Parts: sequence; structure tokens; C-alpha cells
Amino acid sequence: MAPDTYIHGTEPSEQDRLAALNRMTNAAFIRFLDVAAGARVLEVGSGLGLLAVEVASAAEDVSVVGVEVSPQQIAAAAASPRVTYRQGDAHSLDLPDASFDIVYARYLLEHVEHPDLVLREMQRVVRPGGRVAVCENDVTLIRFDPPCPAFDRAWEMFQRYQASLGGDGAIGRRLFRLFQGAGLTGIELSVQPEVHWQGSPGFVAWVRNIIGNLESARRGLDPDDLAAAVAELTTLSERPDASSVFVWNRAVGIRS
Ligand SMILES: C[S@@+](CC[C@H](N)C(=O)[O-])C[C@H]1O[C@@H](n2cnc3c(N)ncnc32)[C@H](O)[C@@H]1O
Repeated sequence: MAPDTYIHGTEPSEQDRLAALNRMTNAAFIRFLDVAAGARVLEVGSGLGLLAVEVASAAEDVSVVGVEVSPQQIAAAAASPRVTYRQGDAHSLDLPDASFDIVYARYLLEHVEHPDLVLREMQRVVRPGGRVAVCENDVTLIRFDPPCPAFDRAWEMFQRYQASLGGDGAIGRRLFRLFQGAGLTGIELSVQPEVHWQGSPGFVAWVRNIIGNLESARRGLDPDDLAAAVAELTTLSERPDASSVFVWNRAVGIRS
């Protein structure tokens, strides 16, 4: 992946957004992953390593390898004696067959050109009986109330821009098909909810995360439309009657 095809980039404000998103979503993802003591784990597209480090400490003697395409991300990644990072492309993992107990990716497949190839690679490097797990986006599932028409317009532009870069912001809905295509068995789908309202602990952070998503993609958005969406969401984040619903899409499957 050429660095300029990653819609979010690696500006400091984007790294702050990704770190805040990790704080909001890691605990639920780690429960979903259900790592056993001694597990050898691979994260594909490990970004800042914040999730990898928490996965590594989720049980005794867990070791995690993080594969990440961007040298900037690896340079900024969280350190842990149980986590090692390798620069590489998810489409062609420089790792032996059947070398991990669990292989996972989070917020990665929406950015890659060939998610089917990435999943096949994930299937190749997990051992027979091991698990492949993914958590992804379907950006069409987001709802705000009161309605935010300027945001809706900018969000559509965001999706078109991501598609023009080779990504798919709605890939979450395709996970069952992608897992089947990779030959995984025992596939189970689930969602991880983001349900927030004014006064609940995550509401303002969640709205800021969506603002940060838009701002990270400013290269592909009309500046006036972006400004209108940001102003609208900022107002929403202060309204006493505001709320928001979204779900992440997850899948887990077994290599037979
Ligand atoms: C949104 S971040 C998610 C990081 C981490 N998985 C998390 O949940 O916080 C997506 C990461 O995938 C990386 N990435 C994108 N395309 C990739 C590819 N083809 N191979 C490996 N990493 C890739 C990006 O550089 C970025 O760091």
C-alpha cells in the first residue's frame, strides 16, 4: 500500500484520534478475542500497537507479532517485551504457514485493495484449529439524533473518497462472505456496539472520533462541506438531547 492511499494518514492529530479510539474499543475487542495463556498471536495492520500491547497482557505468556505497512506507525508503536513489530504488507505476509494460534485484524480490511487476499494470508499463517478474528467498519450504520444533514453529506463524500483510494468503508457487511472465501470454518458473526448519549461516559469522545475521521480525510473533501459537518457535530456534542448509535462488525472463524 502506498502511504498516500491510507485515508487517515499519520499526522499527530490522527495518531491522537487512533489512541482515543483504542481507549474506547480495546476492552470489548479483547473479550471477543479471548486469548489463552501461552498463545502466539499475530495482529495484521497493528498501527500504533496499542491493541497489540493490551492483547499481549490479556493472559500469561502471550506473545504478539504486529505486521504494519507504515514505517511511521512502527516508529511510533507502543513497546512491550511481549510484542515485536515487522514492517510488511498484509497481502503477502513474510511469515511461515501455521505459525500462530490466533491471527486478527482490526480496522484494517476497510483500507486494503484486496481484502480477500489478506484473509487468505491470515488463514495461511494460523495453525489448523487456530482462530482468525476481524473487527471492521460499516460506516453506513452510524446514526446521530437530532439529525445531522451536513455530516451526512460529508460522510458520503468520505465514503466515495475512501473508495477512490481502493478501500471500502462498508466492508463490515461482507465479512461472512470473505471468511467463507478464505476457507475458514465455524464462522460466527457479532457486533460491538457504540451506543452513546449526552452525559454517558463515551459520548463526547465518540463524536470527536467521528470529527477526527472526517478531518483526517480533508484531502478528499470539499473544505466548506467539511467545515459545516465539523461545526454541526461540535454543536451536537454540546446538546443536552443528543445521542448516537453505531456497531462494529466482527467475525471469527477456524482454520480446519
Ligand atoms: C486504522 S489503523 C488500525 C490500527 C490497529 N489495528 C488498531 O486497531 O488500532 C489501520 C492500520 O493498518 C495499516 N495498513 C493499511 N494497509 C496495510 C497493509 N496493506 N498492510 C499492513 N498494514 C496496513 C495502516 O498503516 C494503519 O496503521
